[in-house]
Amino acid sequence: MSAAVREKTPEQQIADLEIRPLQPTLGAEISGVDLSRPISDATRDAIKAAVLKHKVVFFRDQALTDDQQADFAARFGPLYTHPSAKRHDNIAPLHRIAAADFNARELVPDPTSVESGYHTDTSWRLVPTWGAVLRAVSVPEIGGDTIWVDANLAYQGLPDALKARLEDLHVTHDFRHALEPLGHDYPIVSHRVVRTHRETGQKILWVNFTQRPHILGLDIAESKELLQTILYHYKKPENQVRFSWRPGSVAFWDNRAAVHYAVRNYGDFPRLMQRVLIADEPLYADL
Ligand code: SIN
Repeated sequence: MSAAVREKTPEQQIADLEIRPLQPTLGAEISGVDLSRPISDATRDAIKAAVLKHKVVFFRDQALTDDQQADFAARFGPLYTHPSAKRHDNIAPLHRIAAADFNARELVPDPTSVESGYHTDTSWRLVPTWGAVLRAVSVPEIGGDTIWVDANLAYQGLPDALKARLEDLHVTHDFRHALEPLGHDYPIVSHRVVRTHRETGQKILWVNFTQRPHILGLDIAESKELLQTILYHYKKPENQVRFSWRPGSVAFWDNRAAVHYAVRNYGDFPRLMQRVLIADEPLYADL
């Protein structure tokens, strides 16, 4: 083996790892690691700690194959194959997120819900996936950024009376219109609007605005009014970090702690991303 491709020792891997925060509580850029090579347990633990602390981390200039992306993600838990991923002639569990799918999708406006692009992944599931590794395959030179929101900071910014009001409320997400045509039968489940993060203990304001959210037990107008307030807090620039993709960029986020929004301002450019989802506790991987 030549010196150029010799694997780093675990000690070298850790010594080379640099974590640079991008915003006070949200987002960090990690350098000094090659995600195409096997990472040591210590490096994995340091990256996991950074994901928990910063909610989303970014890597630049990574030349990854599909398998290498999946192998890296699999160091952090069992992988989950999204039902939409099966549509593609692609290696499961890689999920191609292509601009063409969004342009072609028939959006059925639902006047009873608040529609927006801010979302978490798989919130229609009883146990949503905990993490995601997203890789830029084809990105426009300008535009096509992704925004993440610190959903704990969004919660902290709520008036105390609203925090108290939301405490016992649950939200449903209805994704059946997308899942049923794929042959995926799934019941509607509800989650707390304010979830407690299993690992950090933080309170997380947790709504998916792409999947017809409704707050249980409230009439439509009241639910909509509360959801609009939550959306207002998601949209505050103080709660956000925005990432401009380049070929080889990779993002890894904690889906339980951050919500995200893909900015679609690149016209007809065939933007293509590949995402791998990481299931939560193995016990619940299939729920
Ligand atoms: C996603 O919603 O998981 C993908 C975000 C993006 O395409 O930027």
